[in-house]
Parts: sequence; C-alpha cells; structure tokens
Amino acid sequence: MSLVGRDAELAALDTAVDRFVSGTGGAVLITGEPGIGKTALLSALGRRARAARCRVLDGRATEFERDDPYSVFRELVATNPSVDRLSVPDAVRSRLSGLAPVVLALDDLQWADAASVDLLGYLLRHPPRGAVLIAGALRSAGCPPRLAVALASCRCTELRPAPLTRVETARLLTGADPDRLDALHADTGGTPSISRFSVGRARRWCGRRSPPVTRRRPWGGWSGPGRTRPG
Ligand SMILES: Nc1ncnc2c1ncn2[C@@H]1O[C@H](COP(=O)(O)OP(=O)(O)O)[C@@H](O)[C@H]1O
Ligand SMILES: [Mg+2]
Repeated sequence: MSLVGRDAELAALDTAVDRFVSGTGGAVLITGEPGIGKTALLSALGRRARAARCRVLDGRATEFERDDPYSVFRELVATNPSVDRLSVPDAVRSRLSGLAPVVLALDDLQWADAASVDLLGYLLRHPPRGAVLIAGALRSAGCPPRLAVALASCRCTELRPAPLTRVETARLLTGADPDRLDALHADTGGTPSISRFSVGRARRWCGRRSPPVTRRRPWGGWSGPGRTRPG
C-alpha cells in the first residue's frame, strides 16, 4: 500500500534505516491522533528494515493488558533463556544486541503497562550495543509520563504525521465526486482512515438523491442518511 502525503516521513525513515544499518542504532517515535497513520508508518519502517536484511521484532500494547507486566515485550521476554540469570532489562538489552541488526517496532505505546514503559525507558537511556533501532508509535495525548521523561533524555527522530491536505485527500479518494471533495475533506479533517471510510459512503450514495453526509457525533460514532453506523 502506498502512503499518500507521507514523503517527508518516509524519507526520514529511510535515513533512520540507513543510519542504523551502518551500526549506529537509534530511536524513532511516531506520534499523532488515532487514524492519522502511525501504524502504517511503523509498518513502512519494518518493510524498509527487512529490505535491508534486518530482523524486525514487533510488539504492541493493548487497552486490555495495561496491568500485564512486559506485555509489550512478551515475545522477547518469554523466549529469552537468559531472563532467569539476569534482570529482565539487562537480559532484553543483551538479547537485542545479539539479534542485531534488528528493529524493535512497538505500537500503541499509550497503553503500555508500567513494566514495559520502564523497560523501554531503560533501553532508550542505555541503548543496546550494535545496530538496534527502537521505534515506537503512540497517540499524541497519551504518552505515559515516565516514557516522556526517557524520550526527553535520548536522541530520537520524532515523526508527527499531519492531517492530509485537500489535494492529498483527493489522491486518497480517487473516484470520489470532485464536487463533494471539499465536504468530505472538511468532514474527515484529513484523517486518512476516516477518508477511506467516507469514500465508501460516497460510493454507496452515488446515484441516490441524498449526499454522502458523514458527521462525527460527540460520542465518536457516525450518522448519515438512513444509517447510524458505518457499514
Ligand atoms: N498516508 C496514508 N495514505 C493512505 N492510507 C493511509 C495513510 N495513513 C494511514 N492510512 C490508512 O488509514 C488507516 C488507519 O491508519 P493507521 O496507521 O492504522 O492509523 P493509526 O495507527 O494512527 O491509528 C489504515 O487503513 C491505513 O492503511
Ligand atoms: Mg495504530
């Protein structure tokens, strides 16, 4: 899938991969609103790293595992034989060095459990030796305070994908009625995921009398002609 309007972000990811493949390591943080494309950029980073013959380890926090220690690092902790001998942070750090070149791609960190936040902070303050790139994505408003402190003290490339412009929305909505683009763009605020949803509605309403109205409701749901939920 090609990402619309993300040339600068993808170029920054290319630079980060080039730098870390040469052994520098580093950290990348992707922040933004839900649906803006954080996971898509993290996946793009993974694809670039794999193309450069690097290993990619994925981790993800979820809303439902906020009390499970190390839930973000589950695989790395569970499959690490040295965890019993060393403390978890030291074991994970040396395991990452042993796997280099490796990208650790951690998504939805706004929901990370406290132990994962502390481990991530430790890895940022004491970067593993060798080509280890630590990448994280999280909502702009949701950074756990201890992670914010760790991020402030390390060198980190931060990407903040912006809402798509009208022109970019038009590229995303190929096939949508041009007369309706302004309304759709205003309606979606340039968020790529919602724009995709809107084009679906636009197509559904094509040929009918009612326009493809899609309005945000205060509770986050949707209303449109004759429908209360996206189909
Ligand atoms: N720049 C983009 N161009 C095209 N599609 C995009 C773009 N950014 C995100 N998307 C799509 O929008 C949807 C939501 O993106 P996602 O990365 O999951 O958002 P987030 O992780 O910020 O909530 C996905 O289907 C994704 O493929
Ligand atoms: Mg996401």
